[in-house]
Amino acid sequence: MYSTHNKHLFDLESLNIKLYKSMNVVDDKTIVKEYFNSTGFDRWRRIYGNGEVNTVQLDIRKGHQKTVDTVLSWLKSDENLSEISICDAGCGVGSLSIPLAQAGAKVYASDISEKMVEEGKERAKEILGNADNPTFAVQDLEALSGNYHTVVCLDVLIHYPQEKASEMISHLCSTATERIILSFAPKTFALTILKKIGSFFPGPSKTTRAYQHREADIVDFLQKNGFNIQRQAMTRTRFYFSRILEATRK
Ligand SMILES: C[S@@+](CC[C@H](N)C(=O)[O-])C[C@H]1O[C@@H](n2cnc3c(N)ncnc32)[C@H](O)[C@@H]1O
Repeated sequence: MYSTHNKHLFDLESLNIKLYKSMNVVDDKTIVKEYFNSTGFDRWRRIYGNGEVNTVQLDIRKGHQKTVDTVLSWLKSDENLSEISICDAGCGVGSLSIPLAQAGAKVYASDISEKMVEEGKERAKEILGNADNPTFAVQDLEALSGNYHTVVCLDVLIHYPQEKASEMISHLCSTATERIILSFAPKTFALTILKKIGSFFPGPSKTTRAYQHREADIVDFLQKNGFNIQRQAMTRTRFYFSRILEATRK
């Protein structure tokens, strides 16, 4: 009797969540946070790991690694890593934060998902030992305070519509004293077609929406916030597309 009652409550709760989602009452941030603490966590932890994955996930893993490598090479080429502070906003499992700390930068890594942060901490412990760099925190990037020489935000904006993405960029800019590095899925004709036929974010866990952004809009937001584009790159594999922009304060 008790368990039947509980089951009804549970069914009602999940029905409510579905109803809320379909009515668009739950905002994108709540959905993204819930996703990266549940099915999304399992999916992305595997993609960002070394274990066995399917061919699509392997393609995304390789694409993402190229994005991380591009950013690492930009940052290392300036030869001042040990002198600067870096904020990795939406750090995931630490794919960028850990090698950056290893290369000598002081890294503040934060993410809205507790699960991703826990995994990041474990990976850092395994790779770097019990070091306190990177510092990990569970935090919405719009709640970031303080100032960092460089603020990096990789593959996060894809989870948000344009208006929210612009608010996020403004906030990230306000915490960056010198430089900001962003990546996003560019809104191109080819990608729009791919998304329409369902090849974008393939697999069973297409729980979050993937938003593409117009590069001109992102550049415009950056300029309005006092930044000029310095370096740019594009990572493109079969299923992974990421435009990377580096901008420095005017
Ligand atoms: C696709 S993963 C990318 C992770 C990492 N930046 C990387 O490239 O390895 C997106 C991450 O953004 C995080 N995220 C989404 N919205 C966020 C927000 N508002 N504030 C902080 N993190 C957020 C998610 O929890 C997830 O870990």
